Amino acid sequence: MRIGVIGVGNMGLSLVRCLKFPNRKIIVSDTNLDRPNFLDVLTDVSVANNKTLIEASDVIFVAVKPKDLHSVCKDIKEYCRSDQIIISTVAAVQSDTIRRWIDKKVQVIRCMSNLSISHRKGTVVWYGRDIPNRITNLLNGTTPMIINNEELIDHATVLLGCGPAFISKFYENFIEHGKLSGFSDDQINLMINSMFCNTTTLLKDIRPSDLVESITTEGGITERGIKTLNDMSFDEIINTSFQNMTHHINDTRKSLS
Ligand SMILES: NC(=O)c1ccc[n+]([C@@H]2O[C@H](COP(=O)([O-])OP(=O)(O)OC[C@H]3O[C@@H](n4cnc5c(N)ncnc54)[C@H](OP(=O)(O)O)[C@@H]3O)[C@@H](O)[C@H]2O)c1
Repeated sequence: MRIGVIGVGNMGLSLVRCLKFPNRKIIVSDTNLDRPNFLDVLTDVSVANNKTLIEASDVIFVAVKPKDLHSVCKDIKEYCRSDQIIISTVAAVQSDTIRRWIDKKVQVIRCMSNLSISHRKGTVVWYGRDIPNRITNLLNGTTPMIINNEELIDHATVLLGCGPAFISKFYENFIEHGKLSGFSDDQINLMINSMFCNTTTLLKDIRPSDLVESITTEGGITERGIKTLNDMSFDEIINTSFQNMTHHINDTRKSLS
C-alpha cells in the first residue's frame, strides 16, 4: 500500500514513525522540509509536492493546521480519485466540510490521537463510514476506537490530542520541585518518571478518588497538599480550561466552514 502524509510537523512526523513498515511506501509533502529532525524520520520515505503525493498514494493522511486544510484541499481536489481514502488528523474541521472542499466522491475518515503514536503506543479514535481494519491497522501498535458520532472527535481532541500537554505541565512542576530540593537530573528522572508510569498502573485497578483517599491520611502531609489544590479551585481551573478548548474548536470550525 502506498501511503501519503501531507504536513510533516509534530503530528505528521509522529504518523510517519508509526506508519513505517517493511514493504510500505510512504510519501510525504510539506511546505517546509528544512527542519533538522526530519532527516532521521524521513529515511526510506519519498518527498513530493501535494499533486505528486496524491497521484502516487492509495491512502492519504492530512496533518496540517486547521487554517491550512482548505488550501490543501484546493491543491489536491483535481487529482483525487474515488478509490482513495483521505484520513484527516486535523482538529475542528468536519468530514462534510472536507468532502465539500475536495468536491469529489472520495472517502473521508477522521482520526484523533496524540504524539505517543510516534512510539507506536496509545489509542486512536476513528470516525467515518465503514472504516476497514486495513486502515486502522496502518497505525502499527496503536489501539483503535471507532466512534459513530463526529462530535466526539472534538472531545477526543481535548482529552486525547491535547492531554499530553496537561500531563507534561503537571510533570514539569514535579521536576522543578525535585531540582529545588537538591536532587540531580538523573535522580529526578528515576523517581518522577516511574512514579507517573506506576500511578497509571495503579489506576487500572482503583478509581482516582479512591487512590487519593488511600494516600491522604487524616491530618497527614498529602491531605495538606490536596487541601491547598482544592482551596485554589484546581478542579475548576482544569474544567474551565477544557471548556475553553472546546469553545476554541467550535469557533475554529465556524470560522473555517
Ligand atoms: N500536535 C499534536 O499533538 C496534535 C495532536 C492531535 C491532533 N493534531 C492535529 O494535527 C494537525 C497538525 O498539527 P501539528 O501540531 O503537527 O502542526 P504543525 O507542527 O504546524 O505541522 C503542520 C505542517 O503542515 C505544513 N503545511 C502547511 N500547509 C501545508 C500545505 N499546503 N501542504 C503541505 N504541508 C503544509 C506546515 O508547514 P509550515 O510550518 O510551513 O506552515 C507544517 O510543517 C492539526 O490540525 C492538529 O489539530 C495535533
